[in-house]
Amino acid sequence: MKATTAFATTLMLGFCLTAVAGPVHAAPAQQYTSAVTSLLDAAAGKSIGSVAPGAALEVEGTSGSATHVALHGWFAAGSTAIVYSAPDKHIVALSGFTGHGTAGAAQAVTIDGWVATNALVADVQTVWKTASALYAQKCGQCHALQPVTSYSANQWPAIMKTQADNAGLDPGQTALITTYLQVQSGK
Ligand code: HEC
Repeated sequence: MKATTAFATTLMLGFCLTAVAGPVHAAPAQQYTSAVTSLLDAAAGKSIGSVAPGAALEVEGTSGSATHVALHGWFAAGSTAIVYSAPDKHIVALSGFTGHGTAGAAQAVTIDGWVATNALVADVQTVWKTASALYAQKCGQCHALQPVTSYSANQWPAIMKTQADNAGLDPGQTALITTYLQVQSGK
């Protein structure tokens, strides 16, 4: 539930690791969300935000069916509700964040929380494979499929605003295809 500046990150991670029961991981493994996933403030806690598909999460430990994670990203300028996965690309990693933080321009943050373990995958390519199949199925019905490189990471969201309706996507499908197009566009 914590959002801290990069400066305070080391202190917070140190605290979290000592607070986790069981063996301390030498090098925390990175895992990825396969779909939109609630971020919880405790193993069986309440939702404090919504993690986007394909977001990279550092695994700190597990408890029951939940995994303790840290999400590194950047607050959207002037907002603590949205965390982007990169400072210069508006690829959403976390939205609807209700935890504490200080809004600034391109401010690096680490968000501490919990997600359902079964929402995580070790290989992010499995997420993009699912997204690519959905993109081909939903977005090639009326016109040729646009190459992902046709638009930049910061252009795709505006296009998806109208095209998600055209394709009749639900919010989860919209998030998956949008993130896929942004990440794969490579610019
Ligand atoms: C029901 C038919 C239909 C479906 C399904 C559809 N589109 Fe479109 N698309 C259109 C039409 C019509 C236009 C041109 C007018 C407009 O922009 O809406 C268009 C235009 C576009 C453009 C050109 C840029 C723009 O905004 O004009 C892109 C890129 C695009 N679509 C991507 C997509 C993606 C991605 C999906 C899947 C989420 C999708 N389309 C699904 C009908 C469709």
